Amino acid sequence: MDVITDIATLRRRLAGESDIAFVPTMGNLHAGHLALVELARRHGRCVAVSIFVNPLQFGPHEDLAEYPRTLAEDLDKLADAHTDVVFTPDETTLYPEPQTVFVEPPPISMELCGATRPGHFRGVCTVVLKLFHIVQPRIAVFGKKDFQQLHIIREMVRQLDLPVCIVAGETVREADGLAMSSRNGYLKPEQRIEAPRLYRTLQQVVQMIREGCHDFARLEMQATESLTRYGWTVDYISVRNARTLLPATPEDGTLVVLGAARLGKTRLIDNIEFAL
Ligand code: PAJ
Repeated sequence: MDVITDIATLRRRLAGESDIAFVPTMGNLHAGHLALVELARRHGRCVAVSIFVNPLQFGPHEDLAEYPRTLAEDLDKLADAHTDVVFTPDETTLYPEPQTVFVEPPPISMELCGATRPGHFRGVCTVVLKLFHIVQPRIAVFGKKDFQQLHIIREMVRQLDLPVCIVAGETVREADGLAMSSRNGYLKPEQRIEAPRLYRTLQQVVQMIREGCHDFARLEMQATESLTRYGWTVDYISVRNARTLLPATPEDGTLVVLGAARLGKTRLIDNIEFAL
């Protein structure tokens, strides 16, 4: 496994590769990330992973400074997963000068997570486009855990005609249902016990819809109230069309119920995609 920190060396290493499968990450790797690496292995001959905590996608009061950085452990896990190339640039490598050119993401970026994280998806799209240009993968793998991010990346690829095929990986969960996330490490023991309630609440919403309740606004409100009673601060619970991410209608084929809520200072997100 080659671990490369600068763009010129990376380009030289990848120059002869025509079938690169790429997994962009911010590190602190868990089984969810490693499942994406596994998926990449099945789709491409050369597996490249990037580890870069992208300041552009963090708001001024978010957890950029505290974000867990565990490079040595990450590299061990990636070597075990038969990764070919790891790109670990530092901030001045990706942003040698203040970044003034950005990707303007689609309007859906202002909703859901974008409503409380202005500029987040602009930062994500900008770094992902840069990484695509640097790595030039044939395919790139993203997790459904970040459903809105996956949707926006697909839109960017389609509308900007990027020559990369996006592959989606299923959300990997802990035994109690909590979606794996680097941010789970922030949870205090009692919060960790409470955390799976977000997924359970989304499951209840799915069940109610399947039982014929199509008053989505009422379901969203009830789920929000229920989580609030257990001490959560809810950013949103929302039932959407899984393909467009527009508010759901009973005529939609595939829906997704998405949620974002905070336990103390830790913000967790989750979603469930399902057919009506
Ligand atoms: P990060 O949060 O490190 O996630 C990297 C990839 O792993 C993303 O595609 C994410 O959806 C996926 N992932 C995270 N938890 C997962 C889980 N439990 N199951 C399956 N996949 C999971 O997402 C980012 O980094 C950044 O925004 C990035 C795309 C790298 C741009 O900076």
